Amino acid sequence: MNHGDFLKDYRIKDEPYYRPQAEEIALFTAAYERRLPVMIKGPTGCGKSRFVEYMAWRLGRPLLTVACNEDMTAADLVGRWLLDSDGTRWQDGPLTQAARHGAICYLDEIVEARQDSTVVIHPLTDHRRQLPLDKKGELIQAHPDFQLVISYNPGYQSLVKDLKPSTKQRFTAFRFDYPSADVEAEILARETGIDPGLALRLIGLAESARRLKGHGLDEGISTRLLVYAASLMADGMAAKHACRMALVDPLTDDDDIRATLEHAIDALFG
Ligand SMILES: Nc1ncnc2c1ncn2[C@@H]1O[C@H](COP(=O)(O)OP(=O)(O)OP(=O)(O)O)[C@@H](O)[C@H]1O
Ligand SMILES: [Mg+2]
Repeated sequence: MNHGDFLKDYRIKDEPYYRPQAEEIALFTAAYERRLPVMIKGPTGCGKSRFVEYMAWRLGRPLLTVACNEDMTAADLVGRWLLDSDGTRWQDGPLTQAARHGAICYLDEIVEARQDSTVVIHPLTDHRRQLPLDKKGELIQAHPDFQLVISYNPGYQSLVKDLKPSTKQRFTAFRFDYPSADVEAEILARETGIDPGLALRLIGLAESARRLKGHGLDEGISTRLLVYAASLMADGMAAKHACRMALVDPLTDDDDIRATLEHAIDALFG
């Protein structure tokens, strides 16, 4: 793929809606100016990916996102030889493409990947900014615009999975969390058209569920699920049904917790 096509295919055309929570836009911009690698930690559905999309748009850089999983190998990131009718042909992986063409590469849920797959990012994330393609016998010097961003959820995974210190300490980091109630209400209203007062009531429910984290729930109700519930309500579904479908059933199969949440829904929307 040539440079021009690549930049066009992965460029974000329209401004993504992103409501900042603090100084993260200025800080990310400063990190990008220095090409510092960035890590974003936080619970599921709190705005990590949306923030990265927004920053890529704002900085005018193409964005390549890789959803990491435990079966992912270094070749899935870097690239591999393919066999076709004309013989063998090298195909760049997403990390290599981003490094060659000057994109932001976003490795989502990086802790899911095996550590031997993630060490390939090491020489890219220090002063070398290089990516060795061992199987191809090529050493890539990263494009000046290239930046690496990773994200993960430190909550329920941290006991079993973690990044090596030598990986972690190559990144600057943001700790994200659910927004404050007024900001979250603004997000729900903007994303779904729901009335802000009604949004605040949904958030009240989320706040009680978030207090159950560690007491039967692995994670609280995410902003993403609140957006789901608000969209159903904005389309005229009854609050009780919308909440059950978007906020209770996806979250837990525990009968006691379900009863607690149902009770809270009745109290709020009666
Ligand atoms: N600050 C924000 N501004 C605008 N929308 C937001 C914000 N935070 C959360 N949202 C809403 O929440 C949804 C989920 O956010 P996002 O996909 O960024 O979560 P995430 O942190 O990447 O979650 P995961 O770890 O599961 O990938 C978004 O689609 C958007 O509707
Ligand atoms: Mg995400």
